[in-house]
Amino acid sequence: MVQYTDELKEEIRSANDIVDVISQYVSLKRSGRNFFGLCPFHKEKSPSFSVSADRQYFHCFGCHKGGDVFTFVSEIEKVSFKEALELLAERAKIQLPVSENPEFNKKQYLKDRMYKVNSEATIFYHERLYKPLAKIAQDYVKQRKLDNNTLKAFKIGYSGEYNELYKHLKSKSFKDEEILATGLVNKNDRGEYIDRFRKRLMFPILDVSGRVIAFGGRKLDNNEKTAKYINSNENLVYSKKKNLFALNLAKQSDSKNIILVEGYMDAISLYQRGFNNVVASLGTALTEEQGRLLRRYCEQVILSYDSDGAGQEAIMRGLTILEDQGCDARVLQMDGAKDPDEYVIKYGSGRFKMLVDNAISLVEFKIKMLKNKYNLENSNDKIRFLKEITKVLSDVDNKIEKEIYIDKISKQYNISKEAIYAEVNKATYTSKKDEKVLIKPKIKKEEVVEINPAIIKRENMIIYLLINYFRESYEKIVTNIFLEDFKLESNKLLFETILNSQAEESDKILQIISNIEDSEIQSHVSEILVTDYEINSVDKCIEDLVNTYNKERLANRKMEIVHILDNKSSELSKDEISKLEQELSDIIVELAKKK
Ligand code: CTP
Ligand code: MN
Repeated sequence: MVQYTDELKEEIRSANDIVDVISQYVSLKRSGRNFFGLCPFHKEKSPSFSVSADRQYFHCFGCHKGGDVFTFVSEIEKVSFKEALELLAERAKIQLPVSENPEFNKKQYLKDRMYKVNSEATIFYHERLYKPLAKIAQDYVKQRKLDNNTLKAFKIGYSGEYNELYKHLKSKSFKDEEILATGLVNKNDRGEYIDRFRKRLMFPILDVSGRVIAFGGRKLDNNEKTAKYINSNENLVYSKKKNLFALNLAKQSDSKNIILVEGYMDAISLYQRGFNNVVASLGTALTEEQGRLLRRYCEQVILSYDSDGAGQEAIMRGLTILEDQGCDARVLQMDGAKDPDEYVIKYGSGRFKMLVDNAISLVEFKIKMLKNKYNLENSNDKIRFLKEITKVLSDVDNKIEKEIYIDKISKQYNISKEAIYAEVNKATYTSKKDEKVLIKPKIKKEEVVEINPAIIKRENMIIYLLINYFRESYEKIVTNIFLEDFKLESNKLLFETILNSQAEESDKILQIISNIEDSEIQSHVSEILVTDYEINSVDKCIEDLVNTYNKERLANRKMEIVHILDNKSSELSKDEISKLEQELSDIIVELAKKK
């Protein structure tokens, strides 16, 4: 396997600020020296994920994942360390030397060619839509009320027959391998090259940075036997679950929210009518990756799924995914049309805007679902309904928000506020009680339990000082505190690494440490680095630490002598005993002085 040089690794590291990189996945807020957010590696409601800008490390105090920018990318993208490095090189536009990794460079080159094929195909389809032979497509877009600006903005096109695209691409000197890789053309059993999309209305799918990565093609006839849409398969440049149709446009909007729809046509139709903040989920249930992507561009997402299409389950899942990313997720409720496209054509953009403004939250949506389950005229049902909604409400942490909901529900369903409050308090109390029984303290490793937390903290602090204040602390620490003093294995290893490193400055130390390929060590290091030890004076801090260790050594020796004198004096000479007694009294005096 090819190994990248340390210099290259450092170049890539310093070109990818960890706060910037992590911000692409997690919404971070600054607090003191660090940034905080909801951990992307485990579910949580209050942020325990911390990123240190100074030290370029992250750590989650909830699930204990941590490390540097390479660790983060490899964990979040579920790729190897080496691939993470390559992704970050690509992100920073750092050319990896050909000799270092020929496969990677070949792959990069192919990807680059695929983007070019896609872009050429987009132009080919789009220009073809305006030719006389495209009458059927022109009639269709007219019937769907798409105007020319929209056709241009989305580069909508019309695909050819048989192998027209293939011939066109060949004339532009693309290689078969490059064309096939995009999936726009397939090779059949007889070795012929056939276009995948034929006589369809073409929607290019762009990534966030505006590169064409795939296509969707809609049929233009009513033939029951053919699929309404054909889409590009996943390939080197296209991952369905990581992209959203029209996000490249929506991200430019200054609207505070993004409207999430199901279909290409919904997004396009709304865009034409002034909603420039719409994206479509490409016909799948919203994925976590898509949720994260949305969170990067806005704080509020409005789900506007087809009224018949997606089940309530899909909406609930979508909302939950978005809320887990820290999004304010809402559902638009629509009557009288099957999808946003039909609605906006039928009732106009003003009415659709009203639906957007009246979109309801996850809690309200859940309550509405419950209401459909019960007949509120029936008093038994009403009691059950009340019990169920309080369960939903007890999950709302924000007091004011909770009050607003209770107010709304009371009015809407004609239930007294007092009754709701009584139930909510009961539910909150029982769920808290259950939690206490269920949640046992999280224990990372056996050794952590055995070692006094104060000792761990002290050791962590020594490592912290050595990393952050190398020049000021190194001499004083190594002449007074020794490898044997360390109790926690991870700290022992870190201390040893620092001693052996012959490094002369903090940055170098950090670099050496971050190269230790052990996730447990990295998790520990990251915890040390993102913790604020509130060090005002390095000297004073070291002095305290050294004092503590000295005292402890004396106390241990004292215990040892007492033990020997008590149990083994018969084996010792008079001389030895008096020597020990002298030492003991010296220690007692010394300890008394230190107190
Ligand atoms: N879809 C698909 N394959 C299908 C049907 C749907 O890939 N056979 C995807 C497409 O991305 C489509 C989305 O699911 O845009 C939503 O489907 P639908 O609501 O049926 O499509 P619309 O975009 O509304 O298209 P139209 O209005 O032309 O029916
Ligand atoms: Mn539709």
